[in-house]
Amino acid sequence: MATTATDPTLAALKERTRATWASGDYDAVADGIWEVGERVVRRVAVGPGERVLDVAAGTGNAAIRAAAAGGAVTAVDLTPELFVAGRRRADEAGVDIDWVEGDAEDLPFDDGAFDVVLSTFGVMFAPRHEVAARELARVLRPGGRLGLATWVPDGTVGHLFRTVAAELPPPPAIAQPPLGWGDPTHVETIFAGTGMQLTFERESLPIDPEIPIEEATQFYMDSFGPLVMARRVLREQGRWEILAAKLPAAIRRLMTEPAAFLVITGTKR
Ligand SMILES: C[S@@+](CC[C@H](N)C(=O)[O-])C[C@H]1O[C@@H](n2cnc3c(N)ncnc32)[C@H](O)[C@@H]1O
Repeated sequence: MATTATDPTLAALKERTRATWASGDYDAVADGIWEVGERVVRRVAVGPGERVLDVAAGTGNAAIRAAAAGGAVTAVDLTPELFVAGRRRADEAGVDIDWVEGDAEDLPFDDGAFDVVLSTFGVMFAPRHEVAARELARVLRPGGRLGLATWVPDGTVGHLFRTVAAELPPPPAIAQPPLGWGDPTHVETIFAGTGMQLTFERESLPIDPEIPIEEATQFYMDSFGPLVMARRVLREQGRWEILAAKLPAAIRRLMTEPAAFLVITGTKR
């Protein structure tokens, strides 16, 4: 079991999160955001020999680019099922990465163990934002750098997440909404007192107008873990058709408007 949570609600939530990201085909979905790892690694200027941690690394989006830049990289994630594709991608890139199963809210590393901490669309899915933010800051050495990418609430991916969440049973009260990490004011609040000095910049991903909407909708329903899980839950409740009717419009936005996200960089005092 990846989580060290002793609270049964929290432990169950972490197990569900792991099952969600292990379902579908995240490796294929990650292709759509693959350039973000490179952008974030360039932004924080990872250098040869630096100790780098990619938190909620999935299939290694940031980790692989940090290793290609010469970093000594550890990739940690709650969902070790994704490491199979991550290892394949790392082999293809000709880099070595240390893959570690673990929870962003309880990182299995010493204080100040890393020069750089990264997370692309990853740590935002840990349920307790302040706990996770404090862990990111804790494992950074003084003077170390942070580089995160998070979806913003008013972007097309934010819209898709809200469309899905609106049809699902509410999550436990302990789970804060992931899109909070796309709001700079909220992010400043959760890092308060950690010594992190943060900067924020909005970026976006280009669209591919060649892909038909029906094909894209089917792809996301079959491959994107949160949608695969939503279909499973809503079918049991006989309510899947309600969300299925709303998805094409949300996917149309996703395929026709550049996907906005926030790049958060920081230095630890
Ligand atoms: C959208 S994927 C992003 C993966 C990768 N960073 C990327 O850019 O492709 C979200 C990832 O967060 C991981 N995750 C969710 N909650 C986590 C937690 N509490 N601790 C560690 N990883 C977590 C999931 O297992 C999944 O790999």
